[in-house]
Amino acid sequence: MTKPTILLTGATGYIGSHTWLALQAAGYAVVGIDNFSNSSAEVLTRLERLSGRTPVFEQVDVCDAAALGAVFARHRPAAVVHFAAFKAVGESTAKPLDYYRNNIGGLINTCEVMRQHGCTRIVFSSSATVYGVPEKLPLDEQAALSAVNPYGATKLMGETILRDLGAAEPAWQTAALRYFNPVGAHESGLIGEDPSGIPNNLMPFVAQVAVGRRARLQVFGNDYATHDGTGVRDYIHVQDLAEGHVAALRFLLAGSESITVNLGTGQGYSVLDLVKAYEAASGRAVPYDIVARRAGDVAACYADPQLAKDKLGWQAKHDLARMCEDSWRWQSLNPKGFAQQEISA
Ligand code: WQD
Repeated sequence: MTKPTILLTGATGYIGSHTWLALQAAGYAVVGIDNFSNSSAEVLTRLERLSGRTPVFEQVDVCDAAALGAVFARHRPAAVVHFAAFKAVGESTAKPLDYYRNNIGGLINTCEVMRQHGCTRIVFSSSATVYGVPEKLPLDEQAALSAVNPYGATKLMGETILRDLGAAEPAWQTAALRYFNPVGAHESGLIGEDPSGIPNNLMPFVAQVAVGRRARLQVFGNDYATHDGTGVRDYIHVQDLAEGHVAALRFLLAGSESITVNLGTGQGYSVLDLVKAYEAASGRAVPYDIVARRAGDVAACYADPQLAKDKLGWQAKHDLARMCEDSWRWQSLNPKGFAQQEISA
């Protein structure tokens, strides 16, 4: 028996595309929408190669209520996984209105159209950035929340909107998933992280140095109170993250309560730990320079992942070596990302 239809917004993005495959493997029918503002249509070709099925996809912006309503009328999804949002911390500081309109407006629009079509289950892509500057580590879901940039404010507001909606209308079941640092790629090397322009995040920048697209990594400070002075983060394999979404959907479809959980490994690694692991995985040197700290960075941030294990029966399985191996396979097969239609031999 086919399981319910799940609608993914932001479906051709980094995490959306990996979750698409995980949901199909779990037996769900998946419909994807995206406006391609931060992803490539080439992802659909790769998904077809990986799944053996033509993706059911529509190019729709979640801020377009009429187009979104037509998607619901056609496909009648039982739940929504909402990835569609801008996600660059630095960009959000420069363009706050764009971030509030797209991330908050898009979520509100999606919830209103869902309600019109009797769909009241949503999995929301949140972020560990809602914890602001951690007071103590590891971070559990009861830790203090604060927004330290407009991007983080849109994630915190998104969680608040869903909490208040559930309180006002008990039919709603919501799952807010607080991602730590997603990295890595599908083991096939056919899909992976493909940031446009200069990567903001560490792993894709390291990958581009290893493959020769960039000359050197800048390490943003080595005077933090960590084991080697560089920033410590909780890196989580994107395929573990995708399985976390499957587990959250299963939870919502089986029950009635809403939930907010961390999706992390509970293990922190420093910038230099990651550089060393990447060099071992790729066999390539990753030259770097120590430079000044980046504004807004915290010294360390890593999860207490116990609640997701207790409530969802989910925990991360892949270690840092596997994250680097899978990232390297994707990067070395696609030195220019999705821009090159054919992957390298
Ligand atoms: C990791 C570490 C940097 C780049 C952000 C968002 C979070 C999520 C993931 C969206 C830090 C250091 C980085 C570089 C470096 N984004 N670094 N040189 O800042 O922990 O999290 O991205 O969902 O919400 O807050 O991730 O990968 O940018 O940085 O030294 O060129 O690597 O200082 O210590 P971050 P990051």
